[in-house]
Amino acid sequence: MSLLRSLAGRRVFFSHCRRSLSLNTRPKREVKLGQPTFETRPHYIPLAGNLTPGISALEYFERRLKLASRLPDKSVLIIVGNTVKFSSGSVFYDFQQENDFYYLTGWLEPDSIMVLEKKGDHGRDEDVALHLLVPPKDPQRERWEGAKSGLEGAYDFFNADYVEDVANASSYISKLISSNEHVFYDNKSGDSPSSNPGSSSSSSSSSFFGFGKKRETLNDAIMNAGKPVNPVKKEVAKLRSVKSPAEIEVMYAAGQISSRAINKAMGQVASETPFQTEKTLAKYLEYQFVKGGCDKQAYIPVVASGSNALTIHYTRNDDLLYKDETVFIDAGGKLGGYCADISRTWPNSRKGFSEPQRDLYQAVLNTNKACIDLCDESLKMSLHDIHEFSVNTLLKELRNITGFGNTTYNDVKVLYPHYIGHHLGLDLHDVPSISRFDKLKEGNVITIEPGLYIPEDRPWPKSFQGIGVRVEDDIVVGKTKDEMINLSAGCVKEVTGIESLIRNGVSTPGIDDELVTLDI
Ligand code: GLY
Ligand code: MN
Ligand code: MN
Repeated sequence: MSLLRSLAGRRVFFSHCRRSLSLNTRPKREVKLGQPTFETRPHYIPLAGNLTPGISALEYFERRLKLASRLPDKSVLIIVGNTVKFSSGSVFYDFQQENDFYYLTGWLEPDSIMVLEKKGDHGRDEDVALHLLVPPKDPQRERWEGAKSGLEGAYDFFNADYVEDVANASSYISKLISSNEHVFYDNKSGDSPSSNPGSSSSSSSSSFFGFGKKRETLNDAIMNAGKPVNPVKKEVAKLRSVKSPAEIEVMYAAGQISSRAINKAMGQVASETPFQTEKTLAKYLEYQFVKGGCDKQAYIPVVASGSNALTIHYTRNDDLLYKDETVFIDAGGKLGGYCADISRTWPNSRKGFSEPQRDLYQAVLNTNKACIDLCDESLKMSLHDIHEFSVNTLLKELRNITGFGNTTYNDVKVLYPHYIGHHLGLDLHDVPSISRFDKLKEGNVITIEPGLYIPEDRPWPKSFQGIGVRVEDDIVVGKTKDEMINLSAGCVKEVTGIESLIRNGVSTPGIDDELVTLDI
């Protein structure tokens, strides 16, 4: 874990990155693939050997071996990738790969299936085979949709041992099942395109390969093959819940880019062009995440002026930002599939926080910091233990605030209606099958996000009503406290830091540059 240590002390990120200084000259490239690779987009994946940002082909291979080592001999583990989803007619959503599939292969094209086969010949590496079933290359289709990797790309670049046209999935996988004994597969029969809200049954899957329609046939073939079917998600979650040094480095980048974007937003309050609406602030954050080097925003953010923050999942983001109210944001960028998840609250006022805003903010911040101190494997705490601690800490903090002296434990449950946090990774609420009661382990990445939301009602003190505060950071659990890493440490959260940012704006050199070449 020396990497954790070296990251913990790291102050400057992307010191070697190339930033945009002049227009780029297009190099000649022979290879055409359906997703960015070192060969096709070296500014995005600058290291030969990496398949996706920061993650090497070797690491993907080792993840598969590790998963296979948990399976009995003669197993096949099948993961069906996602299809493109459509919002209406031919208008599609951004493609989101099934994250277990992505975690094990790095493959980012829709309508694909992976099968991990463990033949079980004395546990030798070569007895673990990756089968990728993908859409074949098709010049007609590529004319409209752009390059696809095809079977050749799956073999040459993604290290599949066997490749097959996904149109033959049912017969191909049936044969694999019959030559093995154990099947690992998550029954998706209730998850067919027609039952998926927001998609129309005629258009929710790849139109060229009819994969959506064949999926049910495949599901039936697997479920009726006469072999016991075991779940997949829980097995993969055990691996995904402990991040590798490479994953932590990618998440560190996502956290730092997101932190800078949020600092920049705070720094505009007293500028000549303060944000006027929740919507423009939301879109500014998204743009800054991408300009800083992320691929996209990790989720629809919460951007709430004043009492709008009392709605925990306020995502309308359609109000004005009102003077002297708090600005409450919960937002983060996503890089190489990995999410950042940060909440901050600041005053929309040149004068800084009002007294009630500051009191409440300080109570939440103190709780956030005390909980972060517990993200240490040696303390043998679970996420639930930290949650209980956060409730008790908020109780103590509130009782020190004038007007809240008689606050009870049950009151805190009203003012703090959510949980302290969740695992974070490829999914925003990562690996939900991992119990909140499990002891935290080195390499877990969790959010710490206490909050207080004072209803606009009696008996709560009038001057506090309608204030909502959350302070959320992304923490890598360390073996000891010294080895813990706060991935969002760059995002200002002390009262003095926030008020100074508001007064002086952001002045970090290079903060406005566009990040062109990633250095992970
Ligand atoms: N952004 C959602 C959450 O904090 O869980
Ligand atoms: Mn959040
Ligand atoms: Mn969160």
